[in-house]
Amino acid sequence: MSGELSRLEDVVDKIKHGLLPQWVFASQDVYQLEMERIFSKSWHFLGHESEIPNKGDFVTRWIVNDPVLLLRDMQGEIRAFLNSCTHRGTMLCVEDCGNRQSFTCPYHGWTFNTNGELVGIVAGNKVYGSEMDRREWALRPIPQIQSIHGMIFGCLDPNAPNLEVYLGGLKWYLDIMAGRTDNGLEVRGVPHRWIVNTNWKVSADNFGGDPYHTAMTHHSTVELGISPRDPMFASYGHQVVLENGHGINIITAAPGLKMPPYQGLPKVLWPEFERNLTAEQLKVFSETVVMVGTCFPNLSWVSPMHGTGGPNEPLTNFVNFRVWRPLNPCQIEVWSWFMIDKDAPEDFKEASYRSYIASFGPAGTLEQDDTEIWTRVVDASRGFMAFDKDIQFNNVLNYLMGLDRVQPVNDWPGPGVAYPTCYLDAISRAFYTHWAEMLLEDAIVKAPIRA
Ligand code: FES
Ligand SMILES: [Fe+2]
Repeated sequence: MSGELSRLEDVVDKIKHGLLPQWVFASQDVYQLEMERIFSKSWHFLGHESEIPNKGDFVTRWIVNDPVLLLRDMQGEIRAFLNSCTHRGTMLCVEDCGNRQSFTCPYHGWTFNTNGELVGIVAGNKVYGSEMDRREWALRPIPQIQSIHGMIFGCLDPNAPNLEVYLGGLKWYLDIMAGRTDNGLEVRGVPHRWIVNTNWKVSADNFGGDPYHTAMTHHSTVELGISPRDPMFASYGHQVVLENGHGINIITAAPGLKMPPYQGLPKVLWPEFERNLTAEQLKVFSETVVMVGTCFPNLSWVSPMHGTGGPNEPLTNFVNFRVWRPLNPCQIEVWSWFMIDKDAPEDFKEASYRSYIASFGPAGTLEQDDTEIWTRVVDASRGFMAFDKDIQFNNVLNYLMGLDRVQPVNDWPGPGVAYPTCYLDAISRAFYTHWAEMLLEDAIVKAPIRA
């Protein structure tokens, strides 16, 4: 184990005091440990049931480095397999999506059905004899899959706690975003994908705990008249720290600014909200302008009210979930799903999609603002001073906002520890504490890192 890893205990101690050593963004050793001890145990968002509505529909996805074939079998059940032929390991299916009753490997032609069973072998018994048991060569299922509000998650650890336990209090907020209408959300189009030269924690932390960057990074929205001039505009509301490293910001309107209830969603949906949500959820939701947060480790969402920037363009809400798929310590592949309530009127769905594309789509203004900044964080974190093995330099970053200054409220109607502002590093501190403890716990138990 390298010197970087032996300093993880120091990270746990520092982050509780609002300080994060800069080397954690670019360390190859930390990245390797993250793969083994975080991503192999966490629940990962794979896709939405609306992406595979019919028997035989499939999409191909990733759990970091594990290719996943996610499909609806011919009985209508959702299944997920490692997208790798059991003969020589070839990736079985390279299409993004489609509809098939079987999958034939391009290498030697073994064929698998939608249950994952090996149903065809070229030259079959002639080369393997009748004694080979085909059942032993079925596709390998992803050990656990589970859906919530149509959102399908997978987990590589067969012994991990179930999805409800993993999400904890976050489920209450997912109800508001994804379970508020009778028929739930649907994905429109295919998820957008693009590569960003940053570390996955930078983007996960940005969505999870950093509304503070909005006034500066996204100043163009102020200039366009989409955001108010008050630099505190993204601070109003509550930051909620949840278990397992999750967190959400429920941003409300600035005092005196009149915003429509329920993020301006069409009135025709309101009776459905009342049917599907509790009185407490309705109260929080009715006052919400933006919901933005992260499900540890690398699933984030933003559900703002935005426009296309045109004059007199109304602000329109959308729901955007995204996975920050790590490719290496300094690179991620962003997967971004636009979602909308199935029961919303078609013209609203169109306006909502335009709002997403203009802001958080791959060429959206806010997306480009963020991407540029996240790249710069990693660019400035690879050098000798950032790694600072001899503690010559003050190489810790500032996560001090609100520490010991802002106290939780005691009348928040939802789960979690809620603070009365979103300009606060409480979620970030909890995110990095959970992250370091996950790395460290195994590091101590399975492979002592101290000499
Ligand atoms: S690798 Fe798939 S059939 Fe040989
Ligand atoms: Fe941003």
